[in-house]
Amino acid sequence: MTSLSDAIASTRMRLAAHGQEHVLRFIGELDGTRARALLAQCDALPLDLLAREMTAILGTAQSGMAEPSHTRIEAVDVIPAHPEGWVEYATAGEALLRAGKVACFTVAGGQGTRLGWDAPKGTFPASPITQRSLFQIFAEGIRGLRERFGAPLDWIVMTSPQNDVPTREFFQSHGSWGLAPGTVRFIVQGTMPALDRRGKILLSDRSELATNPDGHGGSIRALAESGELARLRGRGVEHLSYFQVDNPLVHPAEPLFLGLHATHPSSGGQMSSRSVSRRSAAEKVGVFCQRAGRVGIIEYSDMPPELAAAVLDDGRLLHGAGNIAVHALSLAFIEQLTQDGLALPFHVAHKKVPCLDSGGVLQAPSEPNGIKLETFIFDALPLADRPIVVDSRRDEWYAPIKNADGGDSPATSKAAQVARAARWLEACGVRAPRNGDGDVDAVIEVDPAVALSENDLRTALATGQARAPKQVNPGDRFVVA
Ligand code: UD1
Repeated sequence: MTSLSDAIASTRMRLAAHGQEHVLRFIGELDGTRARALLAQCDALPLDLLAREMTAILGTAQSGMAEPSHTRIEAVDVIPAHPEGWVEYATAGEALLRAGKVACFTVAGGQGTRLGWDAPKGTFPASPITQRSLFQIFAEGIRGLRERFGAPLDWIVMTSPQNDVPTREFFQSHGSWGLAPGTVRFIVQGTMPALDRRGKILLSDRSELATNPDGHGGSIRALAESGELARLRGRGVEHLSYFQVDNPLVHPAEPLFLGLHATHPSSGGQMSSRSVSRRSAAEKVGVFCQRAGRVGIIEYSDMPPELAAAVLDDGRLLHGAGNIAVHALSLAFIEQLTQDGLALPFHVAHKKVPCLDSGGVLQAPSEPNGIKLETFIFDALPLADRPIVVDSRRDEWYAPIKNADGGDSPATSKAAQVARAARWLEACGVRAPRNGDGDVDAVIEVDPAVALSENDLRTALATGQARAPKQVNPGDRFVVA
């Protein structure tokens, strides 16, 4: 092994070439193990890339130009949601599931900071009566799909270094809610160093760089580098059904969407998305659009206000399709991205990053002091062959839990879960009480293993797999299971 002093000298030289040697300023105070750990972190740094990104960031700041460029933004074509006319696509999707060609993929590496939940977000109690966690809701939904379609339907969960251990422990302590061992697998996303405003790497400790997860775009690299991509290939999987950890209404692997993705004539079969109609110009969802003829998503925070609010003659939003972060991706497309040396663009977020000051004292800033670099999965859309965007009923697909109160909170999500359950029951001939505003005057939850749709529920009730009363009375609380 190279001596410690030689190793320090060589790393210092590499860092100095990029103006980052300050991160070794406390190395003389560390024992050998911690010093080598810091050197290993430094040697893995993408220094050229950081330098390129900083030049771009500082250049943008000086020129005052918004980033990214918003020239030639046009509306995207959205395939309307007409499930009843689309039996052939649902059948095609079911065939993919039965043949074991689909796996579920959840990105769960983010921190639930906005929600104020001090644990992995997927552990948050999300359902209205049983307080099923988000992970449990998805696990049981996937278990139901496996049973209905006799499908292997592996589930891959992406964590981050910060929440990997507690996430795995949570699954283990719940026996993965009945999913067989080995059929739920975890991959850990990569990190990026946090920088100060001048692009200098920050230290979180004398022996540790300050880092942040590299964004859900990091999932592409994590799938490849973990070996999971090859493993899925080996198991005959051809498509991933991608969704975020924060949305309990999501359909983990919907046959219709998968069938449209893989077989609709407008689809290149590489990457497809589900959208909902944006509620208003101010709604905090990414916006589907076309730039230079390529389909993509502009994050709400990057969307010029006049475009976000632009309306058609009939008053509907011109850019009306909102991102609910539901995609289908072919393995072939992911392989192509990783083989070509993936280059998703970095997005810059100004954040409060606890870090050591020049004297080595840990500071907790009250104002944003640092730069966080992340990539987004949806930046793969413009790289895909003919991506399709499929409109979805919001009340069937999307009620995320993001904030502690107000919109997109546990309260609004639970209300949406109850409303969907009541609607399904009513469609199956059960009377549900409603108040003057049309809101359901009862609390109802459907076991996700039993039904993920009105049709599933109809079958489950008809076959006796689930039970429900003929009539729900005001104030009732019950679980359809
Ligand atoms: C995201 C989308 C937005 C969309 C909305 C729908 C982005 C940048 N924006 O917003 O366009 O309308 O969801 O709900 O994605 N995650 C990781 N690793 C990371 C960062 C995030 O796994 O490094 C995961 C999180 O666990 C979460 C998801 O990605 O499941 C979304 O991240 P978040 O930062 O919460 O995005 P939103 O602002 O909610």
